[in-house]
Amino acid sequence: MMSPAASAPAWDFDDQAPAVEVAPGVHWIGALDPGLRTFDIILRTANGTTYNSYLVRGEDGVAVIDTVKAEFAEDFFARLESAARYDEIRVIVLNHLEPDHTGALPELMRRAPQAQLYISKRATAMLKALLKPRDDRPLTYKTVGTGDEVSLGGRTLRFLHTPFLHWPDTQCTWLAEEGVLFSGDVFGCHHCDARLFNDLCGDFRFAFDYYYAHIMRPFKSYVVDALKLIEPLPIKLIAPTHGPVLRDRPRRYVTRYRELSTPSLAERIDQDERSLIIFYMSAYGSTARMAEAIRAGVEESEGIRVSLYDLEGGEVQPFVDLIESADAMALGSPTINGDAAKPIWDLLSSLAVIDLKGKLGAAFGSYGWTGEAVKMIEDRLRGLKLRVPVAGLRIKLIPTDEELEECREFGRALAGALVRGEQGRVIDFADLG
Ligand code: FEO
Repeated sequence: MMSPAASAPAWDFDDQAPAVEVAPGVHWIGALDPGLRTFDIILRTANGTTYNSYLVRGEDGVAVIDTVKAEFAEDFFARLESAARYDEIRVIVLNHLEPDHTGALPELMRRAPQAQLYISKRATAMLKALLKPRDDRPLTYKTVGTGDEVSLGGRTLRFLHTPFLHWPDTQCTWLAEEGVLFSGDVFGCHHCDARLFNDLCGDFRFAFDYYYAHIMRPFKSYVVDALKLIEPLPIKLIAPTHGPVLRDRPRRYVTRYRELSTPSLAERIDQDERSLIIFYMSAYGSTARMAEAIRAGVEESEGIRVSLYDLEGGEVQPFVDLIESADAMALGSPTINGDAAKPIWDLLSSLAVIDLKGKLGAAFGSYGWTGEAVKMIEDRLRGLKLRVPVAGLRIKLIPTDEELEECREFGRALAGALVRGEQGRVIDFADLG
């Protein structure tokens, strides 16, 4: 089989090139997409991506692990045919059902009807949605979990249950005899290089970290769970579904995931201390005064570190890391033309890359006529799965001394919910005093 030459430029790849052996009896049969610049609408890539699929040969048959995006099916089938016959395929493993890896699946099933599908238990509903079985076209498959195995004769595929990396269905597959981990999107990146192997490709560290930040970071706790299964494995090669095949010191990439999933020392606040961040925008200083009074109310409680930030500068990205390691945030905005101020929405729309579950949220703001902003922010906080334990606080125009006391009480109530970890009813200021 042809191996990509070390000297081949990254863009010089023959679409007709046959399968590439990445380990004894294991072939890459994927496709390169060097022209792609945006993946899944939002993810940027500077030089395209790859859709990696693999073929494993055993004494009793062949397994195909993942397929490719539909548009690249022709390349995939040509490479597959260079390494195996369709009637040899006994097993099709789907580590992840997103269409960039299942686009060629229906046609593969048509060409290899004897092959058995292996999916994770959580993938069942997705598989049915994808293949739309009918009475006259039933769907057969096996669901597997950690420790389940399928033998190909002298070769054993063992499954690892690694959900939410980055969909509920995701799993990894371990080929023990060769020390190969078929990791799905895990340890992948959008980096297209015809030289295929990490020791031959250009420097893709940025792409690797960028992919983690946008795809895996929201699921950090699941990454940590998966690493518990992956780290003990004697890995010789990681075969992800995107980007370079990681044959040179593959454990570096596992270590990198561990680093990226572990809070740094700088992020850690004292174990006994909770963190609350107040962000605000203020047109005439009223919402700013509310924010300061709320901070004063929070500070009356022991064990909470409170921070106050004015979003007027417009930069929101630097705050994403802070919010990830905080326990609560309160957002203050005046109502401008029936809406919250744009930096508030910019901040909220930047939070999809982090896990917000279990954090507290709150909203406040001064207003002139109608004051919709506070309710809108609260709705968005709930949509992001934050708990909103204290009803939003709105004050018309300039806060009076009594209203500033209300703000301090709002801060006390928020602090109380944070310290006690309250899950119960929403505290409404109409009920207080
Ligand atoms: Fe590469 Fe989540 O699909």
